[in-house]
Amino acid sequence: MALFSLAVLCSGRGSNLQALIDATSTGTLPARIAAVCSDKPNCTALTRARQAGIATRSLRQRDFPDRAAFDRALFADAAQFAPDLIVLAGYMRIIDPAVVAQWQGRMINIHPSLLPKYPGLRTHQRAIDAGDAEHGASVHYVSAELDGGPVIAQAALPVVAGDTAETLAARLLPLEHHLLVATARLIATGDIALEGGRVVRDGRPLPAPLRLAVDGKLVAA
Ligand code: GRF
Repeated sequence: MALFSLAVLCSGRGSNLQALIDATSTGTLPARIAAVCSDKPNCTALTRARQAGIATRSLRQRDFPDRAAFDRALFADAAQFAPDLIVLAGYMRIIDPAVVAQWQGRMINIHPSLLPKYPGLRTHQRAIDAGDAEHGASVHYVSAELDGGPVIAQAALPVVAGDTAETLAARLLPLEHHLLVATARLIATGDIALEGGRVVRDGRPLPAPLRLAVDGKLVAA
């Protein structure tokens, strides 16, 4: 059977992409990254992809009349690689709803908050400002609503006295990497899927998002 294939979309640093690259090369993630696509032709993520020998594609919004035209073109580029799953890993654009619909159940995103808390930007600062005792990250199927699709799995960490957005983000990032790899693994192995708008594990709807345990495994909440 052909190896499960991913297309990863990134806009920046690409540390989550790197975690996926490393996990596919060690076999932790039974998948191959067929392509990395970006809206930022000079981003570090594309450099990481090239260093790993992965095909890259990038487009600039300014070369397209509107957002929908750009999204159609970028996702058409990704589709040429026939990925089983598209992973948004630090892809900083809102995607046209018609394009999202084409990839429903086949596209996930990693977001740095415990969704449904704090969709959008500045998530770490918002968690601190709200006095939250706990913060974290979520991997969810992408729907037309920003950061609003069904959540598959989450990683949590305590907010401690003196935390700033920067310290919290830095502590969360390694957890994000484990979370994204472990979630992609469950999809690649066919254990997790989206059915009827719900996340299903081994044929049964998940009552709550899975949680990342200290051993790096995803467990029932
Ligand atoms: C991560 O915090 C991710 O959750 C968010 O954007 C950041 C991307 O970081 N969506 P990187 O580019 O993977 O290093």
